[in-house]
Amino acid sequence: TPADTLYRPSMHFTPTIGFMNDPNGLVFDGSQYHLYYQYDPFAPYAGRVHWGHATSTDLLHWQDQPIAIPETKDGEAFTGCAVMDIKNSTGLFAADETGMVALYTRASPTKQSQYLATSKDRGQTFTEYEHNPVLDIGSNSFRDPQILFHKPTSQWVMVVAKSRLHQIAFYASIDLIHWVHLSDFGPSGLFGADYECPNLIEIPVEGGGTRWVLFVSVNPGAPTGGSITQYFIGEFDGSRFIPDDTVIGLTDFAKDAYALQVYSNMPNNEAVSIAWLGNWQYCQELPTQTWRGSMTVPRTMMLRRDFAGWLRLAQQPRGVETLRGSAIPFAPRRLEAGTSVTTPLPSGSALDLTFSATVDERHASLPPGDKGRTGRFVITFGNEQGETLTIGFDAFSGQLWLDRSNLRGFSQPFFTGEFSTVLNPDDRHFSVRIILDASTLEIFANGGLSVGTALIFPSAPLSFLRLETSGAGATIESVSLYPLHKTMN
Ligand code: FRU
Repeated sequence: TPADTLYRPSMHFTPTIGFMNDPNGLVFDGSQYHLYYQYDPFAPYAGRVHWGHATSTDLLHWQDQPIAIPETKDGEAFTGCAVMDIKNSTGLFAADETGMVALYTRASPTKQSQYLATSKDRGQTFTEYEHNPVLDIGSNSFRDPQILFHKPTSQWVMVVAKSRLHQIAFYASIDLIHWVHLSDFGPSGLFGADYECPNLIEIPVEGGGTRWVLFVSVNPGAPTGGSITQYFIGEFDGSRFIPDDTVIGLTDFAKDAYALQVYSNMPNNEAVSIAWLGNWQYCQELPTQTWRGSMTVPRTMMLRRDFAGWLRLAQQPRGVETLRGSAIPFAPRRLEAGTSVTTPLPSGSALDLTFSATVDERHASLPPGDKGRTGRFVITFGNEQGETLTIGFDAFSGQLWLDRSNLRGFSQPFFTGEFSTVLNPDDRHFSVRIILDASTLEIFANGGLSVGTALIFPSAPLSFLRLETSGAGATIESVSLYPLHKTMN
């Protein structure tokens, strides 16, 4: 159908047909990156879950691969992870083989337990371990294992959700097969209905050092509605996760980034994540027919202090610069209050806009005596059909917003349109990077501390970009606009 084509991103991973949700088994095998994913190949709805598979050498150009782990009589193949078993901890590989191990949840209506499978051909095909499950606590709400090797204690650690209890359980193993319970974390932060997809990783702090970050996806129960990934910053001593404080961190201020997972075995321990660019509230009703589901771009993660001094997650798109075509000429330098500047956009390609500006002081551009109530800078993507997608900065309150409600390609009760976040109320300067690709929008503001990820459904392509001010003028320090090369077939 036309919607299937109109809404297909050109540089975000999507399945050719069928339904996709969580990223799974994110691992670098030494030469290739793997992206496995929750996949129903038979219908554009969640159900009959298999592990789909794609490979890449740069996390941007993806090659579709055959289904890696199917649904079986034991149940669907739910979310899980993959690690390289370099030292043959499992004893399931021959001396000269480098094996890959996948650990995931088999889910039936009555039971969720953890299954292990091995691959001897670099993640192409998997064989189920003969004594599965490797971890079963007799629960129907126990899922989404992630494993990591904890060097200080020389053991594998599993992080897994006791979903309805709102707890994350930690287990240890030396062979990836026998697991010993260590501790439970939570309930903490947002509760919602279910905790899902926990991920634990040590992340560099700007200025030096590292902290551990525990990601916990919650569904439903997000402040913005539906599903969202929250995170806790703290210490992991090999058996327990101890959060630094009680601040609830959210990975996103909009609502379409869920089930975030981190890459295992990254060179230099680089912290890289991919999330599902969707939300359980409406993912099965999206306007496409033959395919549904996108992934975010890969993102590099670090920890930085925000304007109030809190340590926070900062995310930046990884490697997307390499896809840039020739710059679209567009170089406004100054906009007086109430003026705008517009440029046409090339059709059919994703866009990468980097932008920074400083809004004038309250009175600078106003008649004497008028203190000025607003000083706004608005970035609008629009089309001839009168639809607009706006990203705006309110300089006098330090808020950034995103408004997708004036796009008419999809409506559903939970598909809400407006999101905002606070940057720095004392700073009239803002900088933002925007990646717009068919039905996907990703905004990285404030050095990656404020990230907004949103599905967008204009009824026709967005064909112009407008910058405009209201209440105060603004000086544009830099702007660059590039089309991005297509990476998906
Ligand atoms: C998260 C989730 C997981 C589960 C999978 C099923 O989006 O609900 O908890 O393993 O999706 O597809």
